[in-house]
Amino acid sequence: LEILKLVKERRSVRKYLPDPLPEGTVSELKEALVWAPSAGNLQSRKFYFVFDENKKTKIAQAALNQDFIATAPIVAVCCTDASIQSRYGKRGIELYTIQDVALSVQNYLLVAKDRGIGTTVVGAFDEERVSFILGLPSNLRPVMLVPTGYPDENPLPPHRIGINEAVTEIK
Ligand SMILES: Cc1cc2nc3c(=O)[nH]c(=O)nc-3n(C[C@H](O)[C@H](O)[C@H](O)COP(=O)(O)O)c2cc1C
Repeated sequence: LEILKLVKERRSVRKYLPDPLPEGTVSELKEALVWAPSAGNLQSRKFYFVFDENKKTKIAQAALNQDFIATAPIVAVCCTDASIQSRYGKRGIELYTIQDVALSVQNYLLVAKDRGIGTTVVGAFDEERVSFILGLPSNLRPVMLVPTGYPDENPLPPHRIGINEAVTEIK
């Protein structure tokens, strides 16, 4: 798809077919994560692809029982890595790490869309519970979950504010 069309047609998909993703496609999604820009190219982010049914169910419970999460063949758990960001101090840890993860995730969403795969960014979850479920080291903070699978729904585009409301040109 042409890139702007892809950007506009990506939707949060919350209903998935059970079909597994081909290994090659999973690799491409990993590449999309890794090739995003990052502050100082420090890449202060780590990702877990959870396929395990039991762990996916527990993660969904830790996300305010958003049950759809567990129905996705893969749940990507996207984490900041504070240990990598010491170069930029507090701003690095509190801001750049999250920006690094967010940019990776946006790449991931778009490559997924291009490959006909549906995703949703999930931010409403108990970080400590998810860390415990996956046994994450203390330097990692899970900040986004991304259930991922072939779509079993075709959501209508939600409203967006006008570009002139969102963007001010200063000349
Ligand atoms: C930071 C963030 C957190 C979100 N958290 C959730 C969530 O917990 N559950 C959910 O179903 N959708 C969640 N969403 C998805 C938004 O609801 C969705 O992106 C928005 O309604 C626009 O729809 P669209 O993605 O189809 O364009 C989240 C999105 C973002 C960016």
